[in-house]
Amino acid sequence: NSQVTAATLLRAKQRDEKTVWLTALDATSAAIAEAAGAEVLLVGDSLGMVSLGFDSTLPVTLDQMIHHTAAVVRGRKSAWVVCDLPFGSYQKSPEQAFDASVAVLQQSGCDAVKIEGGAHMADTIRFLAERGIAVVAHIGLTPQSVKKFGSYGKRGKSKDEQSQLLRDAKAVTDAGAVALVLENIPAELASSITASVAIPTVGIGAGVNCDAQVLVFNDLVGLSESNPPFAPAYADVRRVMGDAISSWVADVKSGNFPK
Ligand code: KIV
Ligand code: NA
Repeated sequence: NSQVTAATLLRAKQRDEKTVWLTALDATSAAIAEAAGAEVLLVGDSLGMVSLGFDSTLPVTLDQMIHHTAAVVRGRKSAWVVCDLPFGSYQKSPEQAFDASVAVLQQSGCDAVKIEGGAHMADTIRFLAERGIAVVAHIGLTPQSVKKFGSYGKRGKSKDEQSQLLRDAKAVTDAGAVALVLENIPAELASSITASVAIPTVGIGAGVNCDAQVLVFNDLVGLSESNPPFAPAYADVRRVMGDAISSWVADVKSGNFPK
């Protein structure tokens, strides 16, 4: 398969073809996801909650993101790899975001960075895009702002919030973002945003009319302790793993391992 690029994703939108994104956090999950058809591997800062045991994404550091992204890059063949810039690494200024992006791109070998925020991040997105960096924007539910919002609930429920999110989508597109993640917003709003911007939208809890869909790997395969309502598990890998380990434990205890 030929290398997926930002242009591949744009072409897919123009042809009305869906693309598939999935998070990956190490070389194994990257290889499994890509072999199964994921075209974009997102090293999400959900890493903090999924693998590092934090109760939010806020404690995740740039070095942790680079460490995991480098592993994903080693495990991929032709998928496009996107790294989330973590909380505190890009919000201060366009220059800070540029430094963080350069560190991620140089030290991990990934293809793009993702930042949370709409119109208020447009200057930063433009600064990065003008300097050749592929930037994915992320609006709607933005988990790095959980302390401000107080929950991971749906965004874009009021008319005011809906028009703000439409303005955000336009602002990040005009600033040069190459794709836009829409998280946990009403399906009709995601549909209008998708129709109104030229760049591909990537939905999670945002209905079926987005150009692409993304899920968290552990949620999709049933490895998480619990899933958000918009992310049904397609398997029960947590039980499969638990059963394998408990069978082995029983064999060790009873003297049946090794044979
Ligand atoms: O961190 C993450 O996994 C994400 C996706 C849910 C879009 O940002
Ligand atoms: Na994220």
